[in-house]
Amino acid sequence: MALQLAGKTAVVTGAGSGMGKAVAQLFVSEGANVVFADINVQAAENAASVFSSDTTIAVKADVANAKSVQSLISETVEKFGTLHIIVNCAGIPQSFTQIEELEEVEWDRLMDVNTKSIFLTTKYAVPYFKKQHSGSIINVCSIAGVRARPGLNAYCASKGGAIMLTKALAIELAPYKIRVNAINPGPTETPMISQFLADESKNEDINDIFVKSMPLGALIQSEEIAQAALYLSTEAARSVTGEILNVDGGRGI
Ligand SMILES: NC(=O)c1ccc[n+]([C@@H]2O[C@H](COP(=O)([O-])OP(=O)(O)OC[C@H]3O[C@@H](n4cnc5c(N)ncnc54)[C@H](O)[C@@H]3O)[C@@H](O)[C@H]2O)c1
Repeated sequence: MALQLAGKTAVVTGAGSGMGKAVAQLFVSEGANVVFADINVQAAENAASVFSSDTTIAVKADVANAKSVQSLISETVEKFGTLHIIVNCAGIPQSFTQIEELEEVEWDRLMDVNTKSIFLTTKYAVPYFKKQHSGSIINVCSIAGVRARPGLNAYCASKGGAIMLTKALAIELAPYKIRVNAINPGPTETPMISQFLADESKNEDINDIFVKSMPLGALIQSEEIAQAALYLSTEAARSVTGEILNVDGGRGI
């Protein structure tokens, strides 16, 4: 079978770990040129190092910083000459915090990394997409953006904002054949998952805490998110835009 992303160039943020790493690696295996972007450049380099440097680069980027995102996009076009797909996977968690204990600086950082980042990557990629009259943006949001958990106030708000931004961009950019979709993972087995817990729960079994809220009874694996992102990137999804795809074991039902 032909490779599904042959001839495509993708930027994947958060590619040093968890879902972003799985997405970036699957995309390379499917024939794409991939930019592994992460604030932790060492992790991005490690994730990219199993592939040829002809088809991958690792770039240090802070998705919450406009200058950093602007140079990420221009470095991509400089290296590969094109840009077709952006997967916004970088994100940060919040550990259980009562609203009156939440510091403004933490609120701002969650909004900047989880929500403003989508504005920034889109802002700098869209001129390329408009020129070629195509493009696909995939935002890894969260089922927490539609189904709240106590104490994750700012995180839930940041993901709810990301979901609505996905829809707003999808309707705005449809005339240019630029598609914008989101994936809502449920609890997923990555280094992030234990960071959602309150300090006193840190030693509890993650399965007990998260899996019991998931009707299908198992944590999500990063590879499942990567497969969803692959589908949304390909021609098979050419009529799909503004869609929010829950990959959540039924948590959102
Ligand atoms: N793990 C879960 O249970 C879960 C559930 C729903 C949604 N999500 C979301 O999925 C996405 C991926 O999470 P994960 O579980 O793979 O986490 P992870 O912690 O394994 O990976 C996140 C990556 O993002 C990078 N990153 C953080 N801040 C950044 C910044 N400012 N600029 C660039 N890179 C930055 C980190 O260095 C890390 O490599 C996140 O947006 C997260 O909110 C996670």
